[in-house]
Amino acid sequence: MNRTLVYAIAIVLALNAPTLAQDAAIGEKLFTQCKACHLIGDATGNKSGPTLNNLFGRVPGTLEGYNFSPAMVAFGEENGAWTPELFTEYIANPRKIVRGTKMAFAGVRQPDRIEHLKAFLLTHSPDYQTAE
Ligand code: HEC
Repeated sequence: MNRTLVYAIAIVLALNAPTLAQDAAIGEKLFTQCKACHLIGDATGNKSGPTLNNLFGRVPGTLEGYNFSPAMVAFGEENGAWTPELFTEYIANPRKIVRGTKMAFAGVRQPDRIEHLKAFLLTHSPDYQTAE
């Protein structure tokens, strides 16, 4: 094989490097594990956790009518509004990222699952515009 061909193949392979897919339908299924505590979509209102409708763009700890932990309020003051990036960081290990949170949930470790969850949550944040 000549060098040019080898480089060409290398470039094609690099371009096809797996970017994590986002699939809201898979995310909806994964959301089952959140449902014990969170409502979303047509089921509005708060349970033991706040509604996750319109999550993106709101500041952690500020949703009216929900009694957040001081830790979540402080997290919001430090970081500003929920973005997909902030959510990715949080959901991987909630109790480490927000020390003292009352969200008693271990987190979602698998990056692909986090992407799907995010895609699903974004469908319920219709006013949120992703930056870029
Ligand atoms: C055992 C109950 C429980 C489960 C399960 C749970 N949560 Fe929570 N969640 C909470 C509670 C309680 C809070 C409020 C935390 C605080 O005030 O410290 C919260 C807060 C949040 C927040 C911040 C909301 C805001 O308005 O700032 C997000 C985002 C969130 N949860 C996402 C999820 C996702 C996604 C899942 C599933 C993968 C999940 N949670 C599973 C109880 C839960």
